[in-house]
Amino acid sequence: MSLPQRFRAQVDEFVDNYPGFKETSQDVARRIQDAIFAKGEQGRNVADILHGKQIGHPLHPILTDITIGSWTLGAFFDLLAFLTRSPSSRKAADRLIALGTLSAIPTALAGITDFSGIKQDSAGHGAIHGIINSVALFFFWRSMRNRARNRHFSGFLYSTFGLGLMTLGAWLGGELVMSRRVGVSHIPEKQVADDWTPILPAADLKANKPQRIEIDGQPILLYKHAKHISAISAVCSHAGGPLEEGSIRDGCVQCPWHGSVFNLTDGHVVHGPATVEEPHYLTRVTDGQIELRRWRLGMDEYPIESSAVHSQNGQALKDQA
Ligand code: FES
Repeated sequence: MSLPQRFRAQVDEFVDNYPGFKETSQDVARRIQDAIFAKGEQGRNVADILHGKQIGHPLHPILTDITIGSWTLGAFFDLLAFLTRSPSSRKAADRLIALGTLSAIPTALAGITDFSGIKQDSAGHGAIHGIINSVALFFFWRSMRNRARNRHFSGFLYSTFGLGLMTLGAWLGGELVMSRRVGVSHIPEKQVADDWTPILPAADLKANKPQRIEIDGQPILLYKHAKHISAISAVCSHAGGPLEEGSIRDGCVQCPWHGSVFNLTDGHVVHGPATVEEPHYLTRVTDGQIELRRWRLGMDEYPIESSAVHSQNGQALKDQA
């Protein structure tokens, strides 16, 4: 068994068998989410920034690049300073360690915010990732402090321990994404309805009641409000939650699993933890049949924040719901 395989198996074993660890991790994640939701719209807006909603991509892995990059480069300049006795290399190392340590604060905040909406079956792994990185941050903070007081050797030792822990933590972070699919889009890869596709007799769709239909195995959420019919993917992009079971309010659907909110008209993310918009469809009624067609860039332009809905001829209209 290779070293990574053994480490992975040991982490799984710990999470599954250490009494109460998984449940406590899930509970902590839920409490953080409750605290965010309790702050209302303001709390959710701050969480959205930390999730990365505005950039359509999780923020945490972007920030980790700065932190890991600075700490790793700092170690490189430490080595250079040791080999060449160069004061400028030592100064560069000190500055990079400080930069990495300061950037670790927003990085950790973004990670904790993502943890609040983590899949239940990955909460234990997410907690270990966070604990290891917190200890690494402590070591780097001590290193930064000692370097500032001209205690370079102890500063070097602290950052070396921190670097080892950081590597473990980063490896686990990669595992969360690659193996456990945390933070990746769960939108189905297969795309359907390239052209107008009949899906349901119009009489079968009740107003103000979300309905799930499938085209070639791809679930789609239909929602009729006033005269208009909205259609977006029924699979939540965050972790695959069933949007047709979500609650509908103000032209948006809230996912029943971790509370992401999507606009029913154009699928854009109103609130995270999701950062990726839902595919959406134009709809029309022809000869008593609802037809839909996948929206693509250039097909029908309108401002992303508008509350427009698609009419039966596929034009954008003001939402009258
Ligand atoms: S699956 Fe997490 S918010 Fe929908």
